[in-house]
Parts: sequence; structure tokens; C-alpha cells
Amino acid sequence: MQTMRRTGLDMHRKTGAFTVPTAPGATTRILDICMAPGGFTIAALEKNPFASVDAITLPEQSGGARYHLPLGEKRVTVLLGDLTMFATEFGVVEAEVPADHPDVAEFVYERPFVGREYGGFSLESGVGKWLMRLVQTWCWPMVTF
Ligand SMILES: C[S@@+](CC[C@H](N)C(=O)[O-])C[C@H]1O[C@@H](n2cnc3c(N)ncnc32)[C@H](O)[C@@H]1O
Repeated sequence: MQTMRRTGLDMHRKTGAFTVPTAPGATTRILDICMAPGGFTIAALEKNPFASVDAITLPEQSGGARYHLPLGEKRVTVLLGDLTMFATEFGVVEAEVPADHPDVAEFVYERPFVGREYGGFSLESGVGKWLMRLVQTWCWPMVTF
């Protein structure tokens, strides 16, 4: 966790990564996807002491890393789940999933943190659409020629 925290603080020094634009009077809210062990969350909160963090991370029993937050830390809401199984976020409708699909019991149709606003960016279209946009913006140019 300390290594990720130091990396986060380093990133912030060089790029201002944790300077979060917030509307006057609004609470600064940060979304941390794949949060454990939690170094970036800690670094972000160090730079934004009045912020709150919504975090998603894979449960340990599914192979995820353990997260470490300071005892009594109340600014972080952790949702344990597998991002790839938030079916609605990726446009999958429950009625379309065959009953004999090997992962039928793993699909999750709730939409985590939908409607919340993070750093001036509204998540009205959900975590999945946001992830897809990230992939298209950052990863796609790197994998195409
Ligand atoms: C490199 S670590 C992230 C480090 C973290 N950002 C920090 O600052 O400490 C990647 C994390 O993503 C989690 N992860 C991997 N696949 C995931 C998935 N499908 N859904 C949710 N979390 C996932 C892993 O369990 C691990 O905790």
C-alpha cells in the first residue's frame, strides 16, 4: 500500500493528478476503480482531506488484493465486486443471459454509484460506460496502428 501511495504522491507532484475540480459548495467525490491495496485512495485523500472516495475492488476470495485503510477511516466506501460482472453497465440485459451460462450466478445487474458526480464528471451513464470510454481514449490508440 505504501508503494502505491508513494507512486500516487509522485504522480501528483509531477502532474497534479489529485487536484480534483469541484463545484463551489459541493463535496469532492473521488471514484477509485480497482482500489486495493489502496495507495492511490490514501494519496488522493491526503491531497483532498475533505473529499470522500467511492471504491470498487475485487474481493480477496476471488483473487483480489487485500485493501488497507487507516483504522476508523470513514471517508471511503468500498464496494467489493468484480467489475467485469456488472452486466448492466456493459449493456447486458438479464433476460438475455441463458440460464445455463457458466457464470449466470456471478452477473450483477445493479449499477454501482450511478448518478454520482466525480470531479465535475457525472457518472450518469454508469461505471461500465465510463470504463469503456477510458479504454477507447487511452488504450485503443495504443493498440491500433
Ligand atoms: C495494481 S492493483 C491497484 C493498486 C491500487 N490502485 C492502489 O493504489 O493501491 C490492481 C487491483 O485491481 C483489482 N482488480 C483486478 N481485477 C479486478 C476486477 N475485475 N474487478 C475489480 N477489481 C479488480 C485487484 O484485486 C487489485 O486490487
